[in-house]
Amino acid sequence: MNPVSATYRAVFGETERETPPERPPALRILACGAVDDGKSTLIGRLLHEAGAVPDDQLAALDADSRRYGTRQGEIDYSLLTDGLAAERERNITIDVAYRYMSTPRRDFIIADTPGHEQYTANMATGASQCEVGIILADAVRGLRTQTFRHAAICGMLGIRHIVLAVNKMDAVGFEADSLDRIVESFAPVAKHLDLEVVAIPVSARLGDNVVTASPSMPWYRGPTLLDHLERLVIERPKPVGDLRLPIQGIWRTAGGERLYAGTIAAGTLSSGARVRTAIGGTEATIRELIGADGPAERAGPGEAVAVTLTPEIDLGRGDLLHAGGDAPACANHFAAHVVWFGERALFAGRDYELRLGTLTSPVTVTAIRGKLDIVGGALVAGTQIERDEIAICHLATPGMIAFDSYSRCPATGGFLLVDRVSGETVAAGMVRNALERGSNLFAQKLTVDRQARESLLGQKGAVLWFTGLSGAGKSTIADAVERRLHARRKLTILLDGDNIRLGLNRDLGFAEGDRVENLRRVAEVAKLMVDAGLIVLCGFISPFAADRAMVRERLAGCPFLEVFIDAPLEICEHRDPKGLYAKARRGEIRNFTGIDSVYERPIAPDLHLDSSRYEADELADRVVRALIERGIAT
Ligand code: ADX
Repeated sequence: MNPVSATYRAVFGETERETPPERPPALRILACGAVDDGKSTLIGRLLHEAGAVPDDQLAALDADSRRYGTRQGEIDYSLLTDGLAAERERNITIDVAYRYMSTPRRDFIIADTPGHEQYTANMATGASQCEVGIILADAVRGLRTQTFRHAAICGMLGIRHIVLAVNKMDAVGFEADSLDRIVESFAPVAKHLDLEVVAIPVSARLGDNVVTASPSMPWYRGPTLLDHLERLVIERPKPVGDLRLPIQGIWRTAGGERLYAGTIAAGTLSSGARVRTAIGGTEATIRELIGADGPAERAGPGEAVAVTLTPEIDLGRGDLLHAGGDAPACANHFAAHVVWFGERALFAGRDYELRLGTLTSPVTVTAIRGKLDIVGGALVAGTQIERDEIAICHLATPGMIAFDSYSRCPATGGFLLVDRVSGETVAAGMVRNALERGSNLFAQKLTVDRQARESLLGQKGAVLWFTGLSGAGKSTIADAVERRLHARRKLTILLDGDNIRLGLNRDLGFAEGDRVENLRRVAEVAKLMVDAGLIVLCGFISPFAADRAMVRERLAGCPFLEVFIDAPLEICEHRDPKGLYAKARRGEIRNFTGIDSVYERPIAPDLHLDSSRYEADELADRVVRALIERGIAT
């Protein structure tokens, strides 16, 4: 293979380049690379040689290089970018630094994504606006998993143009073979992800082929990095052309009129235009359009606007206005690419908070359809997604939401998932398409409802959720509570872990994903039973806070009490009523809670009962008292 890639020749031909006639629009670049591949040095060198570093900063850099640099007095360009990064990183976790650079030919915005730990998160958030990805590769070490991961993320985010900057050519004697090898191993992924790749052999440290052509690589006849970036012509895929205005806030004018504010995600808006709500399809006319500088006739993508509507329709934050024939999808189930960066693995069945544009909604990951083998590019089966993995998932929201596929409109098709317990962002996602299944189902309103059944029974339905280690006393205490309620003529049902697992859930084991599904089903069953007017007692270890939050969420709308039956592990193990702790210690059962699987203690249970200090009957009395206080038991 010739060291100058076929793509390169297709783009540039074999001849020298000419200056393009017009100044092209600013090019948005994402810089990525595995740790130590030389990204900071390359960006620093590029900024410096293109004249984007002010003199005073340069003087400081020179001094720093003498003090801290690793290059015996040579300017260490990595200090330029890393120094800035360290400053910013002090109190920001997901951070993307934008560096601006202008040459006589073009303006550039470089999104630099520092941070080793949260690298993928940084990258995925920084990439959504970019048109070109510079992926650093190390000529000595070759391509690494992280390099492939970055390529995959670029592909998913719709960055079609990739510069594979093969760095450290000086360390391999400027040999063409090294470039060839890297280009060849990158080729299958590039093909799979449909990336337009141009490979450039560089030495970021010495400056070869960064801004000036390398005298050490006469065999390379392609452009320098800067040359290439200056001339690159971006073919943008046809985006959504019709209006998308996600509503961000609603204000009132002094005259009491409603002002709907947001940033135009796609299309244009003019006063007098007819617009429609994506959910429900209510129509209205733009009466007045206000832009950043006051009243305006028209506004386009990226502009923040406020509008008044006739008639004034009922809109809230997260609603989407659109116009034209190309309507957004409207569904409650969709397929998406998900880049997972949660510290803990993702399992189907878990609930998160979805942040899609201005919309926030609870969302459940209903299925993991497969994960991406980043080196081979194929989709492989998997039931759990680990940090830094990329998967195709199905997600469902409780209500209808409006969106576009990410490839057509990143602003209405890109989203984040937030862990509702920790508040951390755990994934970036890109909508692929709406799924029909949920969209054609409509909750049927039934005449006889919970209230009607409750009044027939003369009681109030409620759910008591007992959580705690195996052997803590959940079943015993729940049983004692049920006896007391029964004696008080309350209709109850007790759903107990072991019993449910012998029937309804006998297909499930104890791996984290199975426990998630166990509790999801139990929550749904409890919901049906509380709708029947019953007092439902549930005794499940439910070791994960996320799942307990999910249960509570699904049962919102009925009285719900989380009862934490607390006893130290040693005591539970000593009691060992079923001999399971002993088995777990002998290694005969795996994933046993407390032994080789965690129990996350509830932080704010409704009742916290210590079964190592009090008798079961005494604790049962306390539960009943709590029910009486809440008007559930009499
Ligand atoms: S949960 O974690 O999914 O909520 P659940 O309460 O349904 O668990 O089931 C726990 C019961 O299963 C325990 O009381 C115990 O008798 C039995 N069991 C068998 N294997 C395990 C295990 N690996 N971890 C925990 N409990 C187990």
